[in-house]
Amino acid sequence: MTLDDIPRWFPLETERLLLREFRPEDFDDIQAYASDHEVSRYMEWGPNTPEITRKVLDDRLMDQTVWPRANVNLGVELKSEERLIGSIRLGVSDLANRTGDFGYAYHRNYWRRGYATEAAHILLGAAFEKLGLHRIYATCDVRNAGSWGVIEKLGMRREATLIEDTLRRDGWRDSHVYAVLEREWAGR
Ligand SMILES: CC(C)(COP(=O)(O)OP(=O)(O)OC[C@H]1O[C@@H](n2cnc3c(N)ncnc32)[C@H](O)[C@@H]1OP(=O)(O)O)[C@@H](O)C(=O)NCCC(=O)NCCS
Repeated sequence: MTLDDIPRWFPLETERLLLREFRPEDFDDIQAYASDHEVSRYMEWGPNTPEITRKVLDDRLMDQTVWPRANVNLGVELKSEERLIGSIRLGVSDLANRTGDFGYAYHRNYWRRGYATEAAHILLGAAFEKLGLHRIYATCDVRNAGSWGVIEKLGMRREATLIEDTLRRDGWRDSHVYAVLEREWAGR
């Protein structure tokens, strides 16, 4: 398998959400969540200044001109409000072993309504069915109950807890590692 074998697999649509490429006019919606310290508490980035968000968005728009690419970042649009409420990433982290990983962040006003689970669910389906991945994993800070709540709701298996594997601004963090295989996803 090479990156060239991967078809363009987005946009993706669910009942409430559209997972799509970023647009210049998404700036305000991105800044609204990326500037929130609660959203970035367990992330390697943020809280973003407008200048940083501008640079991130410019980088995303530039990335989008290249295909194929190993890492795909998509905006998550709430269809009823026609605005971005967050973003999601799928990376083909190990092509030879057909392994991918994913991550996400959402505006605080939209938490606990099932959006993160809904978006990740369609993303994993595409990763297995359209990209042909064999295994998908996700890692998160052990303190980030919201994140592993989403991952467990998706039916992923906790495979390990790594001790002080990641250096964040508040020090070394422990991480849970979750994974799911294609055959497990198909057999749910
Ligand atoms: C983590 C995050 C993505 C969850 O998004 P969400 O849209 O609220 O998640 P969902 O509504 O799909 O929640 C799914 C399940 O996760 C669990 N969960 C979600 N947020 C939770 C929280 N704050 N505390 C405890 N459990 C939580 C619940 O079990 C929930 O199911 P329920 O609402 O039926 O009880 C969101 O809080 C966020 O953007 N956080 C900041 C960024 C971040 O930490 N990203 C992950 C980095 S690894």
